[in-house]
Amino acid sequence: MKLTDFDVYKQLLLSQSGLDLSQEKTYILESRLKPVAKKWGYPALGSMTMALNGVPEPGLIDDIVEAMTNNDTSFFRDGQPFESFKKDVLPYMEKSRAKAKTLRVWSAGCSSGQEPYSLAIILKEMQENAPAWKPQILATDISDEILEQAKEGRYTQFEVQRGLPVQLLMKHFQQEGDKWQIDEDVASIVTFYKHNLVEDMNRLDMFDVIFCRHVLTSFNKETQRKVLENMLEHLEPDGFLILDDSEDVSNITDQIKNVEGRKNVFAHANGPHVGSTKATGT
Ligand SMILES: C[S@@+](CC[C@H](N)C(=O)[O-])C[C@H]1O[C@@H](n2cnc3c(N)ncnc32)[C@H](O)[C@@H]1O
Repeated sequence: MKLTDFDVYKQLLLSQSGLDLSQEKTYILESRLKPVAKKWGYPALGSMTMALNGVPEPGLIDDIVEAMTNNDTSFFRDGQPFESFKKDVLPYMEKSRAKAKTLRVWSAGCSSGQEPYSLAIILKEMQENAPAWKPQILATDISDEILEQAKEGRYTQFEVQRGLPVQLLMKHFQQEGDKWQIDEDVASIVTFYKHNLVEDMNRLDMFDVIFCRHVLTSFNKETQRKVLENMLEHLEPDGFLILDDSEDVSNITDQIKNVEGRKNVFAHANGPHVGSTKATGT
């Protein structure tokens, strides 16, 4: 691939999705974009690049962004953030939202649904003891294709074996042929919606808890800061933001702090939760 071609795709992906591609990823770019060029009738990547320099057909840019996004995910991924949600965040929310009995959770960058459905299973089990509670999860992603899969809520044996305890599989899924279908009473807690994190978030509501995991890592520091600060505008003053180990937010924004003793759990720097280190590391 010519350097000029690489620069066109790097710039396009940065502006459209926040993905900051390094030169070492040129081979991934080539292997993922060749099928897109073929689909759109371009004999080679060079001719698709030329089309992008003009006025590209609607849909071509979306296909390029979709081809380059990493959708890897699993149920209860990394375990510990979901334990924190269940054991620390929920007990706090049950007390602080005891009157309204509502809880709004945002799964930002939800991929094929395993993250929001894992949260929905935890919330469904909470509802079994407290039926008056009305939890809601908004699950968003940039990719139409992955959102369609997520909405279906149907998973292969391999997918359910990645992280889903067998008793939860038996309790909340039905086997249909060689797939597992999530039960409607769990699925109905989740609403899927297309949203690009690098675009403005004005249409989004306020949330008590935001999960944003394995997403920020593909952005550069400037994009991470903008996205984090925009998300914080949609987090209630006493809300929680749950990130992951690969998302090193130190030196990115001083608007969040790590909640004391809770790895990966963050809150507003000036909020009521007790923080250990500020995200700036100061
Ligand atoms: C690696 S998956 C992580 C899924 C899940 N959060 C987890 O931890 O398992 C990253 C997801 O973020 C989505 N994504 C990437 N850039 C995005 C953007 N700018 N806006 C919204 N979603 C984005 C991708 O489409 C992908 O589904």
